Amino acid sequence: MKIKPISSYSKMSKLAAKIVAEQIINKPNTVLGLATGGTPLGMYRELVKLYKKGELDFSKVTTFNLDEYLGLSLEHPQSYHYYMYENFFNHVNIEEKNIHIPKGDTKDPVQECLNYEREIEKVGGIDLQVLGIGVNGHVGFNEPNINLEARTHVIQLSNETIRANSRFFKNLDKVPRKAITMGMATIMKSKKIVLMAWGIEKKKPILKVTSGHIATEVPASLLQVHNDVILIVD
Ligand code: GLP
Repeated sequence: MKIKPISSYSKMSKLAAKIVAEQIINKPNTVLGLATGGTPLGMYRELVKLYKKGELDFSKVTTFNLDEYLGLSLEHPQSYHYYMYENFFNHVNIEEKNIHIPKGDTKDPVQECLNYEREIEKVGGIDLQVLGIGVNGHVGFNEPNINLEARTHVIQLSNETIRANSRFFKNLDKVPRKAITMGMATIMKSKKIVLMAWGIEKKKPILKVTSGHIATEVPASLLQVHNDVILIVD
């Protein structure tokens, strides 16, 4: 794991955007794995800036988002669909057919997971996966547990995650209890991974991710087994 210490949120966002941009310039038909949450917002803003300056072309890029809440409509302002279009896809020249986000309003979540995994395989896997980290060490929505599901699956959100994510909802009761997430094996198969962590509440999980110990109770600690992870951290 390569650790890149940074001193500001803006520097973290710029560095992450630079890594993504270089990847796209070197391989225009790159398959990107994308994350949501507060952490990557600045990176999306930087990528949009590069596109508007004419320095980046997303026309051949394919994307797969890590996760989505189950039970929210695609137009729900807290759905990850809404987030991705609002903060990124609406502002760059990515083709609609190349965008993939698990469908949180599906009638058949299990089938949706199988289809999602198949779509990723069909394009030859993810070249560069962008990740944030939850306060409990989750990546995507892979929650701490003694057992982890390898592939894309339906997950019951932990109380800690429901509490942490309730800041985006009117109240705790409005936070969905379930989600679809790529599994740790799906994530680990990405050729390259950029993990971003910003803020004091990420100190505890990040110390575990760099500790040398691997535990399914800290899903992000599995990233220590991957041979091309860049951790950008304050
Ligand atoms: C959510 C997402 C994760 C994200 C995490 C941290 O639970 N499913 O992919 O990394 O939140 O979010 P934030 O960046 O807002 O701290």
